[in-house]
Amino acid sequence: MIVTLTISPAVDKSAVIDGLIPEKKLRCRDVRREPGGGGINVSKALKELGEASHAVFAAGGPNGTALAQMLTEAGLAFTAVPIAAESREDLSVTDAQSGAQYRFVMPGAPLTGQEEGHLLEAVWSHRPALLVASGSLPPSADPGFYARLAREAKIRGVRLVLDTSGEPLQRAVREGVFLLKPNLSELAALTGRENISDEAIVPAAREVISRGGCETMVVSMGSKGAWLVTAEEDRFLPAPDVQVRSTVGAGDSMVAGMVHQLALGKTPHEMARFGVACGSAATMNAGTHLFNREDVFRLLDQNL
Ligand SMILES: Nc1ncnc2c1ncn2[C@@H]1O[C@H](COP(=O)(O)OP(=O)(O)OP(=O)(O)O)[C@@H](O)[C@H]1O
Ligand SMILES: [Mg+2]
Repeated sequence: MIVTLTISPAVDKSAVIDGLIPEKKLRCRDVRREPGGGGINVSKALKELGEASHAVFAAGGPNGTALAQMLTEAGLAFTAVPIAAESREDLSVTDAQSGAQYRFVMPGAPLTGQEEGHLLEAVWSHRPALLVASGSLPPSADPGFYARLAREAKIRGVRLVLDTSGEPLQRAVREGVFLLKPNLSELAALTGRENISDEAIVPAAREVISRGGCETMVVSMGSKGAWLVTAEEDRFLPAPDVQVRSTVGAGDSMVAGMVHQLALGKTPHEMARFGVACGSAATMNAGTHLFNREDVFRLLDQNL
């Protein structure tokens, strides 16, 4: 069973306006609502790949209820762990005149220590073979939350795939996880660098691996593609040339693609290659739409 964990989910609201003008009422159209947050996005993308997963997330107030309802409508299996605070709602506004997209991200709903414990209990009760934890922690959360998750995963022999940043990432890496997917700035921060040159990527990843921070690392580099680094191999995987409409959800799509291949028992190379295809396929769609399965296989056929 693949389980995804989202401690800080969001109702992702999007709308279109005709010109961003201060002081004026900006009439919104094409208003949409979607369930969002790292782990939930990964579960949605896994479903597109025909892979079942169970999404565990914190849910509070009317937005928490709305999230559960939207996941039911999307046909996803989930456990909504009740929290006292209201789950957040994010807003993306596209200005039709300039084509620019503005993304307003609210702080995640705070959780009590007890509620954090309930989330973890819900995760382990589903006996994951693969666990995907993705997304930021709410501002007030224990920054050691993902480290605790990593420690408990290790004890249970569960392969943890982690996609996060900052101190929560640093601390989890001290415990050790199975797979990390940092982007360049996350890898730089993780290894105490201001920024990272192309030549420094593999040594930085090896540094983390040799400290026991992870077994496998896939460093994503946006339109360039990704580096796969393990103790035995390092390999560059270029991203295909695609017509980019929106890069929203590229990282989560890449993680989903990799987890799908892991579940199928594929090699690290196949895993990373498929992940790049899913990430790039996600950029072909406008707004928060992740990817279409057909696009992934078309990109793979194009000798990626
Ligand atoms: N402009 C692009 N053109 C082609 N492929 C892209 C582009 N941007 C992202 N991708 C694909 O998606 C993968 C992940 O993207 P990226 O490195 O931007 O992740 P990220 O920074 O974690 O993104 P996110 O903001 O979703 O967390 C890349 O490895 C690549 O395969
Ligand atoms: Mg990311």
